[in-house]
Amino acid sequence: MKKSKDDLRGIFLDDVPLFSNPVEWLQSWIDEAEAAEIHDANAMVLVTVDNLGKPGARVVLLKEIINDDLVFYTNYTSRKAHDLMVSDRVAVVFHWRDLDRQIRVEGVASLLSPELSDKYFDSRPEGSKIGAWASPQSKSIPNRAYLETIRTNFEKEFAGKEIPRPSYWGGYRIYIENIEFWKGRDDRLHDRIQFFRAIHGWNYRRLAP
Ligand SMILES: Cc1cc2nc3c(=O)[nH]c(=O)nc-3n(C[C@H](O)[C@H](O)[C@H](O)COP(=O)(O)O)c2cc1C
Repeated sequence: MKKSKDDLRGIFLDDVPLFSNPVEWLQSWIDEAEAAEIHDANAMVLVTVDNLGKPGARVVLLKEIINDDLVFYTNYTSRKAHDLMVSDRVAVVFHWRDLDRQIRVEGVASLLSPELSDKYFDSRPEGSKIGAWASPQSKSIPNRAYLETIRTNFEKEFAGKEIPRPSYWGGYRIYIENIEFWKGRDDRLHDRIQFFRAIHGWNYRRLAP
């Protein structure tokens, strides 16, 4: 059942964080979005910049949180991967409209280890594994039939076999430098709490809406 916006008003922290680690807070907001039956509750807009400093944004799914790093999976020859080769700085936004909540993250992306990428790839359904092999992500292709043909060829090639992870597909982890929690409130006097790294743990401050 969907929660209405008002169910959540007033439970936002006052000026004392409910968690000392904001990543636990992020996880709790995703869990609550899932409980509220929001589709793709783990979807986040990922912003990268190219070699000219031109930003690009797209949605990816947060698949894991490992040692407080945000992990997503993609094609290592995609546009975003090219961007990450020239600049590892990223921005991420989650938005759950029905809960009137937003989270903004700024951080640094790095490649996930091949072992962890293998582990995740092995857990995927067969169709998704074939899809990873079949898509030259972000490249220009002549038409839909081209994609279907590559898919069919890989289906034949891997029929009855274990499907290995393509070397050009895997994860990135985002080290969080700062993370801001936003909760819509009446009269546009929203709550904004930003956490940033301190020598031990995290510090936080309230920002004006
Ligand atoms: C809800 C949603 C989830 C998505 N999840 C992923 C994902 O986890 N990984 C991915 O590579 N692309 C994902 N995509 C597709 C990307 O938005 C994007 O089209 C693709 O990664 C190519 O981006 P690029 O050309 O900027 O590299 C998702 C799209 C949507 C709408």
